[in-house]
This record gives sequence, structure tokens and C-alpha cells, in this order.
Amino acid sequence: CRVVVLISGNGSNLQAVIDGCDDNLQAEVVGVISNKPDAYGLIRAHHSEIDTSCVIAHSGESRSDYDARLMATIEKYQPDLIVLAGFMRILTNDFVNRYLGRMINIHPSLLPKYTGLNTHQRAIDAKDTEHGASVHFVTPELDAGPVILQAKVPVYEDDTTEMLAARVHEQEHAIYPLVVKWFSHQRLKMQDGQAYLDGTLI
Ligand code: GRF
Repeated sequence: CRVVVLISGNGSNLQAVIDGCDDNLQAEVVGVISNKPDAYGLIRAHHSEIDTSCVIAHSGESRSDYDARLMATIEKYQPDLIVLAGFMRILTNDFVNRYLGRMINIHPSLLPKYTGLNTHQRAIDAKDTEHGASVHFVTPELDAGPVILQAKVPVYEDDTTEMLAARVHEQEHAIYPLVVKWFSHQRLKMQDGQAYLDGTLI
């Protein structure tokens, strides 16, 4: 399974996926693409001798023009799976539909709660006692694709956003490589907008 990872920043999830693929003969990260030239994840990729590309948005460029360039770059790698790992751009429907069932994202909340940004602060503000992360298939509606796997963490009364984010991140690094492994072993499918593991609805 040829995996391409899209990032914008630190890339700690990218690192977890790279490390997971090292132990998984069925999957290989063949390319890392960033929309930010200074993303630390690019350095991580270099350390693992993984090819990298930058697709930087031009000022005034439309989303569809950007996504067309992004798609052209992705296609060079002939991927089976696209992994969004902190890629901070909203994708066009055409782009999403091109990779439907072959593109996954990790989101730092227990979806369907808290789509969008600032999820940790929102969980604290709402006095939630539980928070977490979700891996889901990407569908055109933002953060609304079928959930594949979630990890929960407790929220403590004196938590700061940073403390909670760190707790969630640790779980992200456990679940994302596992989902990549499932996909690469062909155990995971999306059909009619729903996710299946080993043929069973998740
Ligand atoms: C993670 O919290 C992920 O859930 C979100 O973006 C963040 C990326 O972090 N989509 P990193 O770059 O993988 O460290």
C-alpha cells in the first residue's frame, strides 16, 4: 500500500505513521506533501529518506486551482491511500471525491463533537469529562466522514489546553498507524458513506 501523507506543520502524526509503516510490510510512506515550506514534518520525512513536495498556494489562487496542482503532485506518487495529518486546508468536493474511500483524516475531538478548530478549548469550556481523537474517512462535508476509530482521554478540572492537547496527541499517535495498518491489510472499506472493518459496519 503506497501511502502519501499531507501535512502543514509539526508532523508528529506523520512520524507515528512512518514508524508504524516500518513495522508493517504492507505499507510504505512514499511521499510527504506540505502546503507550508517550513513545516517541521518535512524534516522528519527527510530523516526517513522519504520524498517530499511542497505545494504552496499562490496569492489569489482559487481553491480548485490549488487542489488541481495538489492532485497532480499526489498522482506522481501513485498512492493507494492519502493520509491527512494536520493538513490545514479545506479541500474542494472534486478533490475529496477523487479520493473517496482512499483518504483519511485525524481530528482532535470525539466526532461528531467539535468539528473545526480549537477543539481542546471547546471541550474544556463545555466542562466535558471526556475528550479524544477520531480517525475518519474524508467526505465532502468538513470533519463529517464516517468514523473509523476513536480514542478517549479524561478531561481533568485543572487542565490547560496544552495539557489536554498533549494527552490527545499521545492517543492520536497510537490510533493513526493502526488505521493505516488496517487499510493496508485491506480490512477497511468505505461504502455508501459508511465505514466497514472486516466487512462489519463500524
Ligand atoms: C493533530 O492534532 C490532528 O488531530 C490535527 O492536526 C494536528 C496535527 O498535529 N488534524 P501534528 O502535525 O501531527 O503534530
